[in-house]
Amino acid sequence: MKKIVILISGRGSNMEAVVRACAREGWPARVQAVIANRPDAAGLGFAQANGIETIVVDHRQFESRASFDTALAREIDRSAPDLVVLAGFMRVLTDAFVERYAGRMLNVHPSLLPCFAGLRTHQQALDAGVRVHGASVHFVTPTLDHGPIVAQGAVPVLAGDDAAALAARVLAVEHVIYPRAVRWFIEGRLSIEGERVALTPSEPQWLFADIAGEGV
Ligand code: GAR
Repeated sequence: MKKIVILISGRGSNMEAVVRACAREGWPARVQAVIANRPDAAGLGFAQANGIETIVVDHRQFESRASFDTALAREIDRSAPDLVVLAGFMRVLTDAFVERYAGRMLNVHPSLLPCFAGLRTHQQALDAGVRVHGASVHFVTPTLDHGPIVAQGAVPVLAGDDAAALAARVLAVEHVIYPRAVRWFIEGRLSIEGERVALTPSEPQWLFADIAGEGV
């Protein structure tokens, strides 16, 4: 059984998607713990209700990023995870922390990287006028919202979209590609080759949202 630790900051819907897929599809894996950096993270309730250990490491109790990351790593390492899953974990991580989990930490970011790193990605997409937007699952490297891409999902930007409408459409895609990418990792099928992630045996590392446009 592979061990997974999931880090959240809020709602935790991606965490929920991973936990549900793990149970439904019978992965050879177990979510050992869900760790939040905020005591009020709503996702903690789902984890508790599903018998998963929950831990809070409140970043406001620490004087520096480094001391927070050290405490966080201590809690993560108690589970000796094979994989750390960042699921809406809204903290910038120190290089030392990222390097500790190099090659075994995934993140989901709500844009088609390398476009729109950082925050307010849906508004960034609307402001840039792109017609296609989406989400990316990637291995975490020290550069924020950067790292070898495991999977991407694309959605159209529709007339009349605001950031909330676009976010909801992207989130639905996140809930498909993130569990899929985690499963690939658990199955030992991912290898990092420079900036690329190879999947063996291969299957589509992309997803186009099933929303009818003109029809092709
Ligand atoms: C998701 O849209 C995720 O992609 C994003 O926060 C949301 C968390 O939702 N993450 C980032 O912006 C990280 N840079 P969730 O708590 O319901 O999973």
